[in-house]
Amino acid sequence: MAADKLTKAQELAQTFSPSAPIDQQSLFSGRVTQLMDVINAVNQKGQHAILFGERGVGKTSLARVISSLVQHSGSMIVASINCDPMMTFSSLWHKVLEDTSVTTKMSQLGFTGDMKVERSSLSQFLPAEITPDDVRRLFSRVGKCLIVIDELDRLEDEVATTLLADTIKTLSDHAIDATLLLVGVADSVDALISEHQSIERALVQIRMPRMSKAELFEIIDKGLRSVDMSITPDAKERIAVISQGLPHFTHLLSLYAAQDAVSSDESKIKVSHVRKAIDSSMDKAQQSIIGAYHKATNSPRENLYPQVLLACALAPQDGLGYFAAVEVRPYLTKIMRKEYDIPAFSQHLNKFCENDRGPVLQRTGTARRYRFRFINPLLQPFVIMNGIKKGLITESEVETPVA
Ligand SMILES: Nc1ncnc2c1ncn2[C@@H]1O[C@H](COP(=O)(O)OP(=O)(O)OP(=O)(O)O)[C@@H](O)[C@H]1O
Ligand SMILES: [Mg+2]
Repeated sequence: MAADKLTKAQELAQTFSPSAPIDQQSLFSGRVTQLMDVINAVNQKGQHAILFGERGVGKTSLARVISSLVQHSGSMIVASINCDPMMTFSSLWHKVLEDTSVTTKMSQLGFTGDMKVERSSLSQFLPAEITPDDVRRLFSRVGKCLIVIDELDRLEDEVATTLLADTIKTLSDHAIDATLLLVGVADSVDALISEHQSIERALVQIRMPRMSKAELFEIIDKGLRSVDMSITPDAKERIAVISQGLPHFTHLLSLYAAQDAVSSDESKIKVSHVRKAIDSSMDKAQQSIIGAYHKATNSPRENLYPQVLLACALAPQDGLGYFAAVEVRPYLTKIMRKEYDIPAFSQHLNKFCENDRGPVLQRTGTARRYRFRFINPLLQPFVIMNGIKKGLITESEVETPVA
């Protein structure tokens, strides 16, 4: 490949980052409401926030962009941590504060008037075993700060969750100017709030829905503009539809489609480049996704599983990824090219929720009002791309909504 093409390919790889959260505002798209909600919480004394949503919707990216905004304004100390299953309340705080330092000035013995400036990690001001009151006392002395606690759902220690709730309560009751921004999947909010209702008032709950089509378009346009490339409206539509509100796929398909265009000396992405990008994404899909798909759809006799799973992937979902059987029906009818009633596939939906088929779906609600969602949302666009590749549905059928 010529040197200029390689340079362009590299620029594209820096612009579209399917696997890494965004941390620069220039590449961050949409999410205006959620940004405002977090900014308000950060600036209100006694107010804390929890950012929650499905996997991969952009929670970490939002937390990082806010952190960098706050840090650049220079008025706040910012620290962040990713929880892990081994963490206790004490190890969480020591880890988060280890890399956070404050500057202290002390007069030096023997030198009249001379001050010694020292930087010290905030962690050293805390005892080995930390209580919520220790955290409150520390923050009452350090001034404004934002502490981001990400991957909250990975915290397995129930005592740690309770102590974290107590910390929010005590920071809020004493109107300490420190904000905790908790980040996790929706279940982590339930775990935190249901057993600790006293913190409900102190904790703003900010839901991160999947991205709207307009937000996904913004990711594509912003990224391509920064590398002097463009895209046709139908190619852009196709990337957005397949992404199903999950920005990871928008980055992935935009990257592969743009690199394919560059390799054929074109600066405008067309549908043919997106088609190639779908193939590349399928070829490079993670083994775990491929394995989950096969486990869900393999069957020696019954062969409706791939079609039902595809109809599930296409069915319109609410902001948290849930859909009902009634929303699957018209898509199955479209895929099979003949009318299908719910009883003909409700067993398939139930089976998708059992260990034998993954489970690939999760079920909530009561009989006749069940709602389902993909346990791993990233599998959903894979199922659609696979459906297109295998000819179960055409690209244009994917784009036309059913009546
Ligand atoms: N607002 C945004 N603008 C542009 N790209 C985004 C935005 N939000 C997320 N992304 C992209 O989407 C992908 C997933 O984002 P991120 O890692 O922030 O999601 P997450 O919700 O934290 O995921 P997980 O649940 O796996 O931790 C990344 O590739 C990131 O670059
Ligand atoms: Mg994350």
